[in-house]
Amino acid sequence: YGDPSQKIDYIFKVVLIGDSAVGKSQILARFARNEFSLDSKATIGVEFQTRTLVIEHKSVKAQIWDTAGQERYRAVTSAYYRGAVGAMLVYDITKRQTFDHIPRWLEELRGHADKNIVIILIGNKTDLENQRAVSTDDAKEFAQKEGLFFLETSALEATNVETAFLTVLTEIY
Ligand code: GTP
Ligand code: MG
Repeated sequence: YGDPSQKIDYIFKVVLIGDSAVGKSQILARFARNEFSLDSKATIGVEFQTRTLVIEHKSVKAQIWDTAGQERYRAVTSAYYRGAVGAMLVYDITKRQTFDHIPRWLEELRGHADKNIVIILIGNKTDLENQRAVSTDDAKEFAQKEGLFFLETSALEATNVETAFLTVLTEIY
């Protein structure tokens, strides 16, 4: 999980967005520290974590920003998106509403971020398959229409979390 003495070739800022409780902070905890907590508290303001990876023989420091899904706890929008080269748009596959809000998040993202930002749509909590409320096909179709990458993940089971970040970071690179 990163050698601090390593020389850094690139630093990429990636932002996490989506409704409250979809699992943004736990996706980040899984990626940055390989940790997961079931009693995760709602994020207030902004937090970020970094992890250095090697991509095509270059060391890339991923600086991942995480803010609150709840409006009243959110960070200043323009500052949050400034300099971001990647974005992860997260919904919860067991909560239809969190998927229905994705167009709004996308609108905010497109209004504030660089036009070349790499975006991935993420359906989290695939470990709760028996409570699924959003089909994979619906999400795939939406992602295709909007030109987004798409993956389903489970931060709890560590499924596809690494792949999701690598998809974004490799595309940026
Ligand atoms: P805000 O900070 O309020 O925007 O929420 P968030 O999107 O950061 O959600 P958070 O990561 O805090 O997770 C919310 C709840 O969902 C917590 O109880 C997590 O443990 C749980 N959770 C996150 N990811 C998963 C997952 O993959 N599977 C399951 N079963 N639960 C998860
Ligand atoms: Mg959070």
